[in-house]
This record gives sequence, structure tokens and C-alpha cells, in this order.
Amino acid sequence: MVEENRNNESNNKGKRNDDVKKREPAKECTTNEQQPSKKKNRKEVAVFGNYRNYYGYRVGQDLDEDPRLKVMKREWFEGKDCLDIGCNSGLITISIAKKFGCSSILGVDIDGARIEDAHWTLRKVMKTSTQKTTSKTTQGSADAKLSNSLEKHKNHSLVKVTGEYDSPPEETKDLFKIVSFQKGNFVQGWRTPSNTHYHAILCLSVSKWIHLNWGDEGLVTLFWRVWTLLQPGGVFILEPQPWSSYYNNRSVSEITAANYKNIEIPPEDFQDVLLDKIGFRKVDNLTSSLSGTKSGFDRPILAFWK
Ligand SMILES: C[S@@+](CC[C@H](N)C(=O)[O-])C[C@H]1O[C@@H](n2cnc3c(N)ncnc32)[C@H](O)[C@@H]1O
Repeated sequence: MVEENRNNESNNKGKRNDDVKKREPAKECTTNEQQPSKKKNRKEVAVFGNYRNYYGYRVGQDLDEDPRLKVMKREWFEGKDCLDIGCNSGLITISIAKKFGCSSILGVDIDGARIEDAHWTLRKVMKTSTQKTTSKTTQGSADAKLSNSLEKHKNHSLVKVTGEYDSPPEETKDLFKIVSFQKGNFVQGWRTPSNTHYHAILCLSVSKWIHLNWGDEGLVTLFWRVWTLLQPGGVFILEPQPWSSYYNNRSVSEITAANYKNIEIPPEDFQDVLLDKIGFRKVDNLTSSLSGTKSGFDRPILAFWK
């Protein structure tokens, strides 16, 4: 089973970040030519957090939608151009498009296999909605059948795409125009299509993987690139993994092991870096009143405003 262990070790890294302002955003980060999902003893090693079946474990069987969507606000996305960094198999990307009515949303992931999964997810959602329209009254409806097939599929077990059953068909028809996916390394080489600037950029449970693979330089590149790609007034929604969880993934490759030892910007300093060094004007902690409950928020979700 894939697992990002979140609770071992102290969370208090306590290292300095005062040098961050002076760092140029790395145009090309330290070379990292690792291939995702390399097999070691027939076991997949997700060196970028590029887990297959991520949502099967992340969302959980008893939740009908990813709880992170509950703290997000329609006005951040409705009619807006959005970007989802590290989209994995696209569940969150598609759910946000459906639930909040984006003008466009692009999911980017470093792993081509996850991008294929995301295209599969989108086609499945579309097919479900189309069958719903054409055979609304059929016994054992298409919805139920497709819902079952989604649930049984190896990559998407028991996860419901938000809004699947309550969106008007017309809205769904446009999802192919609204949602797109691209393979790319956000901190090295990926370029935004047609020089787009976004109103909302999501980076959920990705920062640790960028940090471990490209070190502090990669992390600062992530933040600078997000800042550059955001429209004035835009929002950056960040769900950083805690320092304690780095420990468990530090040895996924030699590069992560080496970077782990040299990290000087612990996650508890990200907020200061984004406000004081990168230049975001304010932050809201979306989960401050919810953390520690049984609602699925074991990590903070922060919204930074440009
Ligand atoms: C743990 S998953 C999180 C998926 C999703 N954001 C969520 O929270 O539901 C991390 C994802 O980030 C992707 N990723 C890691 N480093 C990346 C990079 N440099 N550029 C783009 N995607 C990256 C991985 O392939 C993986 O799919």
C-alpha cells in the first residue's frame, strides 16, 4: 500500500530561511533525471509522490468527496482560469471544475502515467454524465453502473467525483473544453500554454516532493513560478506536508536522501517565505478551525493572495 507517513518525528525543523530573498528562482534546477515509478524488487517506488491509486487511500471509503474541497470557495474558481500543480489522476482538478464552474483548469503532473489516468478519469466522468442524460429512467441506471465501474477501477476505487450526480448535463458537456491535463515538471522545463496567467493555482500535497527532489532551490522556484503565473489578486492554495512526513520519504532515492540532509527551509517557514520574501500580501489558514478533527484535515491548507 502506498503511504505518506505524516506523524513520525518532530515537526520542529527550526532551520533558517533568511537567505531566500537573495536566491534567484532557479531557471533550471539541479539535474534530476530520475524516472518516476521505477520498479525495485517489483514494488513501485513513487519518487515524486506519483502514487497510483492515490485517491483510493487519500479520500477514504467513508467520505463522499475529498474533504479539502469543503474549505474552498466558489468565487476563487467560478469563471476563472485555474492551474493544479501535481494533479495526479485528476480527481481534484475535475471536481473543482464541476463543483465551482471554472472557465478553464489545467492539471500538470510530472508523471505521464498519472496524466493518462487523469484523461481516463475525465472520459469516465463524461461518459457517466452522457449515459445519465440518455437513460435517466432506465432500471439499474447508467449512473449506477458507471459509478460501480469507477469504484472498481484500480486507480479510483471508492472515490466519487464531486458534482457527478448533481451537475446539469449541459455543464458537463463542456468539461472537455474546460479541463485539460499536461505532463510536465513544474520546476524544470514546463511552460504555461500561450503565456496564460491564472486566477487560482493549487498545490496540494506536492511541496514535499518538489522539496525532496530539488531541495530548497526547487522549493523557491516553485514559489516564484507560482507568483509569476498568478494574476494580481489571484490566490495560491497550498497544502504543505509537515516536516515530520519528510523523514519517511527521505530514502526513496539517493537524490532525496542527499537533499533531505541539506534542507534549510522547513514547512513551518513557508508562510513567512511566501509573505516576506516572495511578496504575497496576505494568507488565510483555511483549516485552522478544523485541524485535528475527524474531518480529514491532518494538514493545513493555506490560501495566499497576490
Ligand atoms: C501526493 S500527490 C498529490 C496529488 C494531488 N495534488 C492531491 O493532493 O490530491 C503528488 C503529485 O505531485 C506530482 N509531482 C511531484 N513533483 C512534481 C513536479 N515537479 N511537477 C509536477 N508534478 C509533480 C506527483 O507526480 C504526484 O502525482
